[in-house]
Amino acid sequence: MCGIVAAAAQRDVAPLLIAGLKALEYRGYDSAGLAVLEGGEVHRVRAKGKVREMESLYLSNPFPGGTGIAHTRWATHGVPNEANAHPHMIGRITLVHNGIIENYAPLRAQLQAKGYHFTSETDTEVMAALIDQNLSGGRGLREAVLATVRDLEGAYAIAVISSEEPGRVVGARRGAPLLVGLGIGENFLGSDAQALVQVTNRIIYLEDDDVVEITREGAQIYTLDGKPAHRGVHESELSADAVERGEYRHYMQKEIFEQPHAVANTLETRISAAGVLPNIFGAGGDELLAKVKGVHIVACGTSYHAGMVAKYWLEDYARLPVNVEVASEYRYRETVVPPGTLFIAISQSGETADTLAAMRESRRRGYLGTLAICNVPESSVTREADLKLMTHAGPEIGVASTKAFTTQLAALALLTLHLAKQQGLDEERYRDLTEQLLRLPRTLEEALKLEPQVIELAERFVHRHHALFLGRGEHYPVALEGSLKLKEISYIHAEAYPAGELKHGPLALVDEDMPVIAVAPNGPLLDKLKSNLQEVRARGGELIVFADTNAHIDGNATRGAVLRIDAGGDFISPVVLTIPLQLLAYHVAVLRGTDVDQPRNLAKSVTVE
Ligand code: G6P
Repeated sequence: MCGIVAAAAQRDVAPLLIAGLKALEYRGYDSAGLAVLEGGEVHRVRAKGKVREMESLYLSNPFPGGTGIAHTRWATHGVPNEANAHPHMIGRITLVHNGIIENYAPLRAQLQAKGYHFTSETDTEVMAALIDQNLSGGRGLREAVLATVRDLEGAYAIAVISSEEPGRVVGARRGAPLLVGLGIGENFLGSDAQALVQVTNRIIYLEDDDVVEITREGAQIYTLDGKPAHRGVHESELSADAVERGEYRHYMQKEIFEQPHAVANTLETRISAAGVLPNIFGAGGDELLAKVKGVHIVACGTSYHAGMVAKYWLEDYARLPVNVEVASEYRYRETVVPPGTLFIAISQSGETADTLAAMRESRRRGYLGTLAICNVPESSVTREADLKLMTHAGPEIGVASTKAFTTQLAALALLTLHLAKQQGLDEERYRDLTEQLLRLPRTLEEALKLEPQVIELAERFVHRHHALFLGRGEHYPVALEGSLKLKEISYIHAEAYPAGELKHGPLALVDEDMPVIAVAPNGPLLDKLKSNLQEVRARGGELIVFADTNAHIDGNATRGAVLRIDAGGDFISPVVLTIPLQLLAYHVAVLRGTDVDQPRNLAKSVTVE
């Protein structure tokens, strides 16, 4: 997945395109490029690496022009280098593309036979050549794009200019996001609203198979059969400062510290001291949920870990059977769907290709309905679900997800309470869980005060190559999330296990060079966990324990450290104990000098399979 921005304006657009690309780097940062059309001539600049590399090349040799397209790449076909960087130019066509064209190999062979010469390994160049070929026979750019996309298999969002049609950009999407930004006397395309926040808040979300033509004067949308289509205009609520880093060193650090506020936003207007309020899942939500007899949760990455926590919660408190599965597995196998099963998709971006495809696939499998837990309004997942619970975390820029995770947990906690009440959870327990959840923002605030101690701890990890994370029950997914954070941004190999599994294999790895990080809430499993920790101690392993303030763990008996943290109660404790693990990963990465916000090889929004 890559990021796209395009503009048709009177002013010079290269600086606007570069600013837009910087907001889209979460989608990939292997290479960047832009092309501007001026007086029938196309000027292009491309560079391997981040947008700023391309920007400094551009600034050393700037060019004017009011029509342009730009791209930041996450490599799929072809290594990250300048030749494979977008925009690609063939004949009269210059094009940027996000997605994967599955039938590009036969198309490439056909085009080569007709004399097209390719200079990159990408599927994108094939698309550019096809459009150029389709320009013949008196077709204009829009007709040529329409004719081309009808022949394509796979997923794409594109923006295209033709040297023969000044002042015009044509875009198209299928299975990858693209939207139109409406300015005054200028119009834009972008992969998301964040990319355009500097220029406009008036957004049109395109649908799959839409083709759009933008000029300075306006935007016209067409369906695949070439008929004009009407799509509504939305006012985006994003503000430019929501995506500023402020006083923080990295976006990730800012987002970690935003969590009390973000979680408060998730809970706002949805829960009071009496419990979860009615109708928080959208129109018809409460009626549909009243029929739920079981739940299937599908997600990827960090969102999948949130789903795993929810399984423990929903089974414990609502006594409903729950399956959780990664989307890339779910979509390609046959699941058994008992009557009355609710399908839940969890996604920060709402554009993750596997999650979206799984949700579409679920339609065929006979669920009671679909619920999206998502951070981005108007994303594909949100729009296609029957019910939605937005997390309201605000834009998350750091590739390693932090506030998206804890707000997903807050949303899932609301769902748990709603279903638990409906399933007859004891009133006193319901009140206790409600109180815990209402206290969550304040408890998170306190947990963040642990940062100085975590910084000290982080020093021990700087030269490590491996780490083991342990947790039990609903804290096992917390351990998984902690290990994912550490590997994503510090590049230290980390694994997580349910603590009881330690003796079935991973214990063989424990020696004085293997730090073992355990999450120790107070509760019925504490003694069991303590025995597991003894197994580590006995092998000379270094133990780092994040323990609830009232969990009795003997710090002195440990080679390592015990850090105390008020976990806020058995219900919210997985959310709270996530905080020190995020801080640990962050500070280890800072000490190791990695690119914290944009770790190598990763991207924030994965809109390819
Ligand atoms: C990518 C990101 C992860 C994220 C996952 C799922 O891998 O790097 O941080 O958890 O996608 O993304 P979603 O937007 O669906 O939550």
